[in-house]
This record gives sequence, C-alpha cells and structure tokens, in this order.
Amino acid sequence: MNTASAKKVRKAVFPVAGLGTRFLPATKVIPKEMLTVVDKPVIQYAVDEAIEAGIEHFVFVTGRGKGAIEDHFDLAYELEATLKARGKTAEFEMLKASRPAAGAASFVRQQEPLGLGHAVWCARDIVGDEPFALALPDMLIHGKRGCFAQMIDTYSKHGGNIIAAEEVPHEHVNRYGVLALTEDLGNQTHRITGMVEKPKIEDAPSNLIISGRYILQPEIFAKLETQKPGAGGEIQLTDAMIALLAEQDFFSYRFEGTTYDCGDKIGYLAANVAIALSRSDIEPKFRPVLEKLIRA
Ligand code: G1P
Repeated sequence: MNTASAKKVRKAVFPVAGLGTRFLPATKVIPKEMLTVVDKPVIQYAVDEAIEAGIEHFVFVTGRGKGAIEDHFDLAYELEATLKARGKTAEFEMLKASRPAAGAASFVRQQEPLGLGHAVWCARDIVGDEPFALALPDMLIHGKRGCFAQMIDTYSKHGGNIIAAEEVPHEHVNRYGVLALTEDLGNQTHRITGMVEKPKIEDAPSNLIISGRYILQPEIFAKLETQKPGAGGEIQLTDAMIALLAEQDFFSYRFEGTTYDCGDKIGYLAANVAIALSRSDIEPKFRPVLEKLIRA
C-alpha cells in the first residue's frame, strides 16, 4: 500500500448496538449514545468529527431499541419548519448542519451482541470495496481539531490503515487494545508491528492503546468473516487487524486532543465538565458553580 493507491475515505461506520448496562436505568429506553454531554448526544460528537473530516456517508450499526438514533439524524420536519417560521435561524442552521444530507445515512442492525469485530462486519455491504473511517462513539475526543481530520492528513501521506493511539497509565492497559510500534515516521506517526486485545498487564507490549478511531482498508471484512472469538469470547476487531497486518501497512497516529470514555460514568461526567468549561456560552456561569461545589 502506498500513497498513490490511497483512495479517498468517504464513509464512516459507527457501531451503536451496545446495551449500555453501565448506565441503567437511564439507558432502559434511551440508547446510551443519546445521553447528552452538555447539550449534544454522545453520538453527535463522533458524527460532527466525521463531518469535519469530509466524510460523505454515515453508516450506523444499530440494534433493537436504538430507533432514537435514526430519528436524531433524520430531518425533523415539523420542528425545523416551526423554527424557520418563528425566525429561530441559529437553532434551524444548527440542526441542519448536524445531520447527514438526504440519502447519506444508512442503518444496519447487528442482530446479536457478538463483539465489535462482528458489528463492523455487519457494515460490509454498505461500505463496499473502499477504505472507511470507524469511530467508537463512547470515546469522545475533544480538541481544537477533530481526530478524524488529523488522521485523514496522516492517511493521505502514508495510505494503509491508520489507528488513533494514546498513552494510558500502565495499570490500565488490560482494558484496551494495545500497540507495539517501530519506526518513527515523523508527525506523531509510527509503523505498527503488533497489537493485542486486552492483554494481561505484564504481557502488554507498551502503554499505547487503540483509542477508538480507525481508518481501515476494505480487506478487513474478509478477515472478520472468518474471525474466531477472542478476548471476552467476542469477535474482536483487533484480532482481524492482526491478521491483516501480515498483508498491509498499519500506522499509529498520536492525535492531539483529550479522550473521555463516555461508556464509563467517571469519563462521562468528566466530558460534561470539560466541554462545559470549553464553551464560551457556558463557562463564565458554570465555573463559579463548579468551584463552589468542589469547595463544599
Ligand atoms: C474496543 C476495542 C479496543 C479499544 C477500545 C477503545 O474495546 O476492542 O481495542 O482499545 O474499544 O475504547 P471495548 O471498549 O469495546 O471493550
């Protein structure tokens, strides 16, 4: 794989079939991806990141009870017509900018919870024979420039498969996919020589983890097709990537930005506080409240 053969990344896949048991009872009726961080659902942050990176088609791998996600990315005709009629232009434009154009969103169901690798494989017919971006929406990445936009720059230089990476404390590596690297290619990019899903702490090749953003070549689908269950008895994307690593280039990219794991209560609360503090419309009123709470 080289730059000349690096096809444009037009599609992004969002696995959103997870049950969200860690957020019950909130997620009994509402999909966990629709929980709000300040005033946007968690899923919207990942979609906005993809829009910023020039993604043209959005593929959601959903499951039963996830209809609210489909409605969220549809045109809300009555609402938008009313906003327009009442001259609420800012709200109207905000809704318009945050949903895919007509025909640019697809929804496919993962019928059984067989793992992340299986969820990605469920998108194969919609993605087809082209590279695609993949976002795990629980991982909310906040920074000046979106993680996907940064990764697309790296992809246009190197081609191949790109994985967003970041360091975590060594004692946390067993919660993630962990990377082994060689060859510093500059601009925070390294060649990946190995990876392992949820290793024992003592077996982890580094403390550099897979952060939930990927650019993958379509050959990953053939690997997923025959992938046996791995860590946790689930079909793991990392295991299929290990198989593809024998045939294709994989690069890690250490993005600029902070990750909040919104699949976890502490990460979700931290995301709310951090994003509220980064917003000029909220920070001046919120900071004194927060300081008072902390002092109490
Ligand atoms: C998944 C991936 C793992 C990655 C993690 C990031 O794990 O399998 O490689 O590091 O997302 O959040 P999960 O969180 O689904 O267990």
